[in-house]
Amino acid sequence: MTHDKVSDIINEARTASKVILESLDRDKKILIISHMDADGISAAGILGKALFRTEARFCIRIERWLDEEVINKAYSQSGGDTLVIFTDMGSGYLDVLCAKAENRETIILDHHQPIGKPKETFIHVNPHLLGIDGAREISSAGIAYLVAKSINENNIDLSHLAVIGSLGDLQDKYDERRLGGVNEFIVSDAIRSGLLAVEIDLLFFGRETRPIHKALAYTTNPYIPGISGEEDRALAFLSELNIELKRNDRWRALRDLTSDEKRKIFSALHNYLISKGFKSEVAMNLIGAIYILVKEGSWTPLRDAREFALLLNATGRMGVPGLGVAICMGDRSATYEEALTVLEDYRHTITKYLKWLNENPDRIEEWESIYVLHGEKDIDEKSISAISTIITMNLPKPEKPLVAYSFMPKERVLKISARTTDSIARMGLNLGEIISMAAEKCLGIGGGHDIAAGAQVPYEQKMQFLKHVDSLVKEYMVRMKRGGS
Ligand code: C5P
Ligand code: C5P
Repeated sequence: MTHDKVSDIINEARTASKVILESLDRDKKILIISHMDADGISAAGILGKALFRTEARFCIRIERWLDEEVINKAYSQSGGDTLVIFTDMGSGYLDVLCAKAENRETIILDHHQPIGKPKETFIHVNPHLLGIDGAREISSAGIAYLVAKSINENNIDLSHLAVIGSLGDLQDKYDERRLGGVNEFIVSDAIRSGLLAVEIDLLFFGRETRPIHKALAYTTNPYIPGISGEEDRALAFLSELNIELKRNDRWRALRDLTSDEKRKIFSALHNYLISKGFKSEVAMNLIGAIYILVKEGSWTPLRDAREFALLLNATGRMGVPGLGVAICMGDRSATYEEALTVLEDYRHTITKYLKWLNENPDRIEEWESIYVLHGEKDIDEKSISAISTIITMNLPKPEKPLVAYSFMPKERVLKISARTTDSIARMGLNLGEIISMAAEKCLGIGGGHDIAAGAQVPYEQKMQFLKHVDSLVKEYMVRMKRGGS
């Protein structure tokens, strides 16, 4: 990451912070509209905390996606003297925003690929406009953090939340699953302020909190068929390796294991994955950088930044994002206890769907250029995004993107979640563009990143939409093979 890119985005963040500070001087209210996933929730938490510290009058609303209805509500329900800030949403829907905003002051802090043109009066901070990769180098929480730090340097103590947001959006795409680009600069802020430590270890889920067999069973990146989601099988796997699971009547966690024990487990899992037909690189995902939030209690899911992100995702997807925002803002009271229950429910839901898919493999079809996961009414719209991410890691032909959908009967709308792999996206396949184009043709809306995109499309358009995506992916692939993307 060049120093220039970091200073470019800091400069943009400064412009946004100036507008916020001016609004506060004029005693304006602030409305923050943010996205329902870990990144959106952390972004809202960062700005919320920064504004709380200035004693501003503000309100946070978390939405599952941006559409005309949400935009109308944002402008109509807040008075003309309210500054509206969109975080983790907005850049993909600039034309709709322009049409609705009239002369309302608007700030957009987003890392999605921009589509359309913003109004001249909008403050639009987006990494893509500065040649920074918004899918890998900075998340929306990262942008919100730079704005917060520009409001007041003391907000450096919110840097760990930006790390959580980026990990929630799976931006750990650099060597050893590290965060890179502008994220690296934010990571160093968090380390400098004594909030974060980075270590290399096995990336089991629940390294700090769970008995080792549970941590292994909870690991879904990479998804280990026959072990992920299956505690008994994980326990049997470790027992066969003669790993001591309990010591003095107490379950051991990953952090209690010796390096030799960890090496043994890794090598067995590596061989197991290879025997299931996976490439060595997939197994290598099991080792990497752990982001430890050193101020959080040991044995809590807030200690490992990836687990923290999962907890935020759980609150969003289970319909209680306010809990996630409160936790980001420092609440560790009953709110936190409630969030833990929500996290367990979320895990069960995801495991249930994965099992169901194992039993119903015909729901994943291979088309000419894509895989289609027909979630229909059987996979809830709130879970399709996570399921799509997990399933993508296990497809026999990783060069074919996955297009998963869930049917929302009440609205008669399809919720689409499309994913591809990092290497295919880096070769030039841009799912955000493809999904946006196909959705527009089918009376829907869509967008996102090159690697992960989503859409909402009328149910009647299902086959047309899928066929359209299939042929657009084919066109991209042909162009990529010819050498131009
Ligand atoms: O809206 P937003 O940018 O926050 O969400 C990105 C989504 O894409 C997240 O749900 C994240 O998990 C997903 N993603 C993915 N695979 C990647 C990168 C992102 O599934 N390689
Ligand atoms: O919902 P899902 O996690 O699959 O979305 C993948 C990415 O596409 C996210 O970054 C999300 O914000 C984005 N998206 C979008 N427009 C939509 C739906 C999703 O930009 N209509």
